[in-house]
Amino acid sequence: MELEHELESGKAKDAAASGGKQRDGFTTALGVIAATLGSAVGLGNIWKFPSITGQNGGAAFIIVYLISTLLVGLPVMITEQMLGRKARKDAISTLRELAPKKQPWWLAGAAGVLAAFLIMAFYTEVAGWVFAYIYKSVVGGFLSTDPAVTSQAFVDLITNPMQSLLWQWVVLVVIGAILMMGVSKGIEATTKRLMPILFLLLVAIGIRSLTLEGAGEGLRFLLQPDFSKVTWTTVLVAMGLAFFKLSTGMGTMITYGSYFREEQNIPGTATKVMLADLLVSMLAGIAIFPAVFAFGFEVDAGPSLLFITIPAVFASMPLGNIFMVLFFILAGIAATGAMLSLLEVPVAFINEKMHISRPVATVITVVLLALIGSTAALSSSTLADVKVFGFTFFDLFDYTTSNILLPVGGLFIALFAGWVWGKDRIVDALTNSGALKNEWVVKAFYVVIKFVTPVLLILVLLRGLSII
Ligand code: PHE
Repeated sequence: MELEHELESGKAKDAAASGGKQRDGFTTALGVIAATLGSAVGLGNIWKFPSITGQNGGAAFIIVYLISTLLVGLPVMITEQMLGRKARKDAISTLRELAPKKQPWWLAGAAGVLAAFLIMAFYTEVAGWVFAYIYKSVVGGFLSTDPAVTSQAFVDLITNPMQSLLWQWVVLVVIGAILMMGVSKGIEATTKRLMPILFLLLVAIGIRSLTLEGAGEGLRFLLQPDFSKVTWTTVLVAMGLAFFKLSTGMGTMITYGSYFREEQNIPGTATKVMLADLLVSMLAGIAIFPAVFAFGFEVDAGPSLLFITIPAVFASMPLGNIFMVLFFILAGIAATGAMLSLLEVPVAFINEKMHISRPVATVITVVLLALIGSTAALSSSTLADVKVFGFTFFDLFDYTTSNILLPVGGLFIALFAGWVWGKDRIVDALTNSGALKNEWVVKAFYVVIKFVTPVLLILVLLRGLSII
C-alpha cells in the first residue's frame, strides 16, 4: 500500500516536472498489441529466423525454438512489461524505483540502454541494406537468377563506405522523425497502420511461393522434424534467438510496459504477441523456403540468404520483380517497428531522467547512433581490417548483444522479479489486483521465472562466453 502511495506521488511529481502534462502512453488495447508486436517482429523474423532455421535442420530447430520461447522469452517479456507498468518510468528508473534501496538492480537497466545502442548500431545497417534493396528493386537493374551476380551486387553495396553510411542515415532519420511525434501519435499510430500491411504482404508472398512447382520440398523442410540435427548448440542458439526475437533482456519491454494501460491483461497480451510473432516467422519461412527449394538454391546460406539468395530466387519466378519489391518493403516495415522500440529505450531515458524535451532527446540519440553505428556500417569497407576479439564491429555488436548482454539483462530481470520483488507483488500486478481471473497462469509463471528461466539463461550465457 505504501509502495502504491509512493508511486502515485512519484507520478504526480513527474507530471509536474513535464509541465503538468500527463505522461504519454498507448491509448487502446489494440494499440498496445500493435506496438509490442511491432517491436517483436523485425529483422529477427526475416533475416535471422530463416537463416538460422536453414542452418540448423528446419522443423526440428523450430520445435526447440518454440520451447525456448515458452520457457525463456515469454516469461521475461511478461516480467518486463509488469515492472514497467508498475513504475511507469524508463528502464533504468523503473528498476531503481522498484528495487530495495542500495541494491543496484538498475544496472540491468543500464546494460539494457547499452545493448539498445549496440543492437541499433548493426540493426540500422542491415535495415539500411533493406531500404537500399527496396530502392534498387524499384528502379530495377539488379535482378538476376545467378547468385554470383546478386552476390556481387550485395558486396558492391556493403563495401561502398558512402552508400553504407547514407542508407544507415536514411533509416535513422525515418525512425527519429516517427519517435519525435511521441508514443501515441508516433509509435502507436505508425505500428497500428504497418502491422496489417505486413501480414497482407506476407500472405501474398507466401501464396506465390507455395504455388511454385517443387515447393513441397521446402514446406517439408519447414514442417517435418529431423531430430538427429538437434545438438546442444542448437538448443542454445534457439534460446538466444528467442530472446532477441521477443525484444527481451534490454529494457524495451520495460519501456513499452510503462506505456501500457492499467487494465491491460499482461500475460494475455504477451502470449498473443508471442504467438503472432511466431506466425510471422513461420510465414516468412513459408515465403522463403519453398521458393528456395523450387529453384534449387542453398538453404543453409546463413545471413546472406536475405540479400543474395532471395533476389536470385525472385528473379527466377514469374512476376518476380514485383514480389521482390513487396518482399523488401515487408522487411523494411518489420525492421521499422523493431527500431522504434530499440531507440525508445534511450530516448525515454534521456527525456524523462535528464529532463530534456522529447525532440531534443531523439536528436541526441540519433546523432550518437550515427556515430556508433558508423563503425558497423564501415565494417565491410574502411574498417574491415579492424578486429576486436577477432570480430569486425558489426559481428562484435551482433554477437555480444545476443549472446551476452541480452541474456545477462534477462537473467537479472528474472532474478529480481522471482527472488526480490516476490510472489505477492507479482500476483497482484499480473492479476490486475484480482480483476483478472488468471491466478493459476500467474502462479505457473512465477515458478518458471524464479527457477527455470534463470537456469536456462545461465546456460546461454556460459555458452556465449565460450565456457561450455
Ligand atoms: N525483436 C526484434 C527482431 O526480431 C529485434 C529487437 C531486439 C528489437 C531487441 C528490440 C529489442 O528483429
